[in-house]
Amino acid sequence: MCGIVGYIGPRDATPIILSGLKRLEYRGYDSAGIAVLQDGKLHVRRDAGKLNRLLTLVEEKPLNGHLGIGHTRWATHGEPNARNAHPHMGATGEVVLVHNGIVENFLALREELAAEGVEFKSDTDTEVIVHLVERYLSQDVPLEEAARQALGHLHGHHGVVMISSREPDKIVAARIGNAGGVAIGFGEGEMFVASDIPAILEHTRKVVFLESRQMAVVSRAGMTLQTLEGEALDYTPDTVSWDPVAAEKGEYRHFMQKEIHEQIRSLTDTIAGRVDFEEGRILLPQLNLTEDFARRIDRIIIIACGTAAYAGMLGKVLIEKIARIPVEVDIASEFRYRDPIITPDTVVLAISQSGETADTLAAMAEGKARGATLWSIVNVIGSQAMRISDGYISMQSGPEIGVASTKAYTAPLVDQYMLAVLLADLRGVISAEERKALVAELARVPDLAGQALAREPEVAKVAEALKDISHCLYLGRGVNMPTAYEGALKLKEISYIHAEGYPGGEMKHGPIALFDESMPVIVLAPRDPWVDKMISQIEQTKARRSPVVAVATEGDEVVASLADHVLWVPEMPWMLSPVVTVIPLQLLAYHIAVLRGLDVDQPRNLAKSVTVE
Ligand code: AGP
Repeated sequence: MCGIVGYIGPRDATPIILSGLKRLEYRGYDSAGIAVLQDGKLHVRRDAGKLNRLLTLVEEKPLNGHLGIGHTRWATHGEPNARNAHPHMGATGEVVLVHNGIVENFLALREELAAEGVEFKSDTDTEVIVHLVERYLSQDVPLEEAARQALGHLHGHHGVVMISSREPDKIVAARIGNAGGVAIGFGEGEMFVASDIPAILEHTRKVVFLESRQMAVVSRAGMTLQTLEGEALDYTPDTVSWDPVAAEKGEYRHFMQKEIHEQIRSLTDTIAGRVDFEEGRILLPQLNLTEDFARRIDRIIIIACGTAAYAGMLGKVLIEKIARIPVEVDIASEFRYRDPIITPDTVVLAISQSGETADTLAAMAEGKARGATLWSIVNVIGSQAMRISDGYISMQSGPEIGVASTKAYTAPLVDQYMLAVLLADLRGVISAEERKALVAELARVPDLAGQALAREPEVAKVAEALKDISHCLYLGRGVNMPTAYEGALKLKEISYIHAEGYPGGEMKHGPIALFDESMPVIVLAPRDPWVDKMISQIEQTKARRSPVVAVATEGDEVVASLADHVLWVPEMPWMLSPVVTVIPLQLLAYHIAVLRGLDVDQPRNLAKSVTVE
């Protein structure tokens, strides 16, 4: 995941920034850069690849100064090469900035700026921000005022940190939504900025976490805080623990809560570098997929365990719908002993957060032995599943520490959507217009997830109402049937409440016998092609006196009038809706477990990675 480090103070900024970036390395990135103010001018060093390349660059052309910013980047717009790496400098050379997030409206902004005569030096969305800042700086306003006006143009979620040679005494840092945090660290006569506390923990324990739509103007002596609307704010720094585990949690109480909130960032990163929004194309080079093979594939068998298998269920719907290839989903522990039918044109696609799950690896080996092509969607880079695959998609979600998987559920949903579009494109089964429309929807996903996350306080209230239940049924249909399974798994894993996910249409074939006041039913009823059927299920459930919690699209008054509680999600493209509808269910399980006083991050009997059969 992208990382940011900044420094202002009496010491040399370069080693502080580089060692901070080093501490964020384990999160993954594909390029890195640093900018330092030296002799009154901003100097940038940046390169594709790992930090060592940047260290070599800095050794060859040293940078020394007391003000600087650095970044590790996972490419979103444009290839991971040196000119797309951050920091980005504007035309005047007077401003440089680093950014986490996706500028959703960057095409429109780039056109607008190009019409003003701006020449772009990179393919990134980030570059529009630096040109916008320069547009306002040319009116001789302070950097923070130019930043405030520039950021007002951006759609989406962002963490932005910038410096200017005009004002060598400040760093301006801002957060909009939740593209990852922005924390300001307080030292003695020096200050730090970081996307993640571990980057600066060796220097300070006193930090202020910026909230959404807040901007900090940081000097050696401290900082001032204001809203993006310009209203001054008071603050009290938090003291974070030296304990690296606590530091890693940052502003959150548990890893699970952090990882649920990190989904804006992890979804941004999983899209990163794989989407050409201008051409409307998907790029998955590590899959090693040729057009010839894409046309020959006769079947895809998705194998996985637990949450990953539920993610695979959506893959089946999407790949069949978009690419028209038959897909089976098999639980890895069943597949490995099932005598499966495989042809040379069959793909076995493994999904695994850890890439080390014993059953998944054994199922992959079985597929390979029978002549299948092996693909995987894996989070842990370099894991066994990734190594033995003929091609892979990296989730790019960063480390997932909470045993209950959250961000490693939503990333493969998006990865499989991208895979479906790529396959459809290579097989020639969708038109250019359809492809472009499907690809364009991807840019909205992180923001839609953010809108669902912003409703956490409402979800917490529903958790209060449900915290003492003993059983719960989750119903979903179509693309949201897997959401029902995953919602139920989250609840049972961390709250120890018996919960089952069920396809909505199966309710009448058995589970309905359980319905009464003591059996709450959680109904996935977002505005998708199945919504009317789900509304009818809510009615039938209510008729049997079971309390209903509905996940519904904002403004759906019919659902609101029927359900006892509603967990609202924004209006969204239905094929991608499961990425968002699961968020209130993750939060619900989390808050119920917290209210029950349970160990959310390490639930009993469970291991993060199940490396034995
Ligand atoms: C998810 O919350 C679980 N802890 C579990 O089902 C997990 O998804 C499963 O064990 C598969 O793990 P993997 O993705 O690392 O292969």
